[in-house]
Amino acid sequence: MRMLVLMLGMGLAAAATVVTAQDNAAGTAIVNPFRGVMQDRSAHSADEALYVEKCSMCHRRMGMGTVLLARRVPADQAELESREALTAPYIVLAARQGIGNMPRITRAEVSDEQLARIADYLVIAGAQ
Ligand code: HEC
Repeated sequence: MRMLVLMLGMGLAAAATVVTAQDNAAGTAIVNPFRGVMQDRSAHSADEALYVEKCSMCHRRMGMGTVLLARRVPADQAELESREALTAPYIVLAARQGIGNMPRITRAEVSDEQLARIADYLVIAGAQ
């Protein structure tokens, strides 16, 4: 019985061995430049905080929106806060209807009043 417990323990220890991308079977080293990096969730105004809560997970660094937009706008403007040409009506339309791979954002998620504040924040941020 004691032997069985010992063997079981060894099996579990072996199963817990972590295989990293560096020592995988093919020997290919995969380096993720964003490993351990956290997204900036800071805000300096109530409107920016709303943007962080509702949009930034996709639209700040490493977000799906930023990555996909980098394919069709200059890379330094892929984050919505860096865009110079966004207008408030366009932002509201994109959010309510969805655009490309972005799902539409309903009034249950973001109210009209909140979306107007987010749009204003983005227009001002882009102009700076
Ligand atoms: C689930 C992820 C996700 C969330 C949340 C999200 N977006 Fe997006 N958004 C995207 C993606 C992806 C695109 C790029 C669409 C494409 O080109 O395929 C995009 C594109 C846009 C665009 C179009 C930009 C352009 O150059 O045409 C606007 C404007 C926009 N988002 C605004 C917002 C706003 C405002 C919010 C928050 C209320 C928001 N998004 C939340 C994923 C998201």
